[in-house]
Amino acid sequence: MSDSDEVKRALVQAADAARFAPSIHNTQPWRWVVREGRLELFGVSERQLREQDPEGRMLLLSCGTALHHAQVALEAEGWRHEVDRPAGEPLAVVRPVEQVPARPEATRHFQMLQVRRTDRRTVTDERVPEDTLRHLVKVVEESGARLHVLGRDQVLALAVAVDRAQHAEAHDDRLAAETATWVGGERPDGTGIPASALPEEVPLTTVAERDFQAKGTLAAGDGHDRAAVYAVLYGDGDGAEDWLRAGEALSRLWLAATEQAVSLLPLSSPVEIPFTRQTLRRMLGDVGFPYLAVRLGTLDPAHSAPPKTPRLPAGQVIDIIPG
Ligand SMILES: Cc1cc2nc3c(=O)[nH]c(=O)nc-3n(C[C@H](O)[C@H](O)[C@H](O)COP(=O)(O)O)c2cc1C
Repeated sequence: MSDSDEVKRALVQAADAARFAPSIHNTQPWRWVVREGRLELFGVSERQLREQDPEGRMLLLSCGTALHHAQVALEAEGWRHEVDRPAGEPLAVVRPVEQVPARPEATRHFQMLQVRRTDRRTVTDERVPEDTLRHLVKVVEESGARLHVLGRDQVLALAVAVDRAQHAEAHDDRLAAETATWVGGERPDGTGIPASALPEEVPLTTVAERDFQAKGTLAAGDGHDRAAVYAVLYGDGDGAEDWLRAGEALSRLWLAATEQAVSLLPLSSPVEIPFTRQTLRRMLGDVGFPYLAVRLGTLDPAHSAPPKTPRLPAGQVIDIIPG
């Protein structure tokens, strides 16, 4: 196999592994183009949530998680690489530079990518240990973003903000219709959130989970997540590249949390509605821009992993340009 064939094979594998990435409503709003020596990432506007996410921020966060997943896959094969983020068309370009022996943590991250899930069940009464939290905060900082862990009063303020955001979204008929096309049922087309990944009844939580207005079949757990920690992922910029990078930081955080048996649940509604986003911003002392609120908790060892959500086949998200 020639060197360029080797590179191409690694790039196709990276784009394939990125299919596992989390995305808003499992829309998987990305497409990859594999060209001579490089991998290009594009956003797909047909899979953007026009009503819920008119500015495309959740699309960029989702594409950022895929971009990070692709990098994890390359690193697991020992490929050092460069990333440019024009944040237009394409959103990003990844170029392998040289192959060296893979670091053990790269292999572990790659394993985490395959087991990571969104778990909407309640978490246990065991609080995430402080040193684990510090580690997660550091991981986010290494990715160029920040994680603000909320104090008790701020958690209550978040609960109010989520409530208001959900209320606003629930009373928007077009948005509700859009959600219904992506959520519930069996999802044979490879996108969206199946009923099997949604709790059967509303879990007892301090901050409400997203109300998808769809019937779920997953036993929610009988706990109450009073020991859960809530945090806001944020950063310095509000441009397209910042949101893409925030998605990369989210993926990095999520894989690190998975490695520590910490469950991460994104709560994006308060970021989607301008006035609640402002509330989050005030929680950060008006410095920086909030990208996403998250719940962190200790997974209940009695729970088996929630079922996998579907993914689009590789052929629908990867174009290989000959040559
Ligand atoms: C940017 C972003 C925002 C999300 N927001 C929410 C949310 O508000 N509520 C929720 O239950 N899940 C949320 N999710 C989780 C997705 O629904 C989930 O990643 C997707 O359905 C795929 O399932 P998986 O993570 O188990 O692979 C979000 C994910 C991303 C990447």
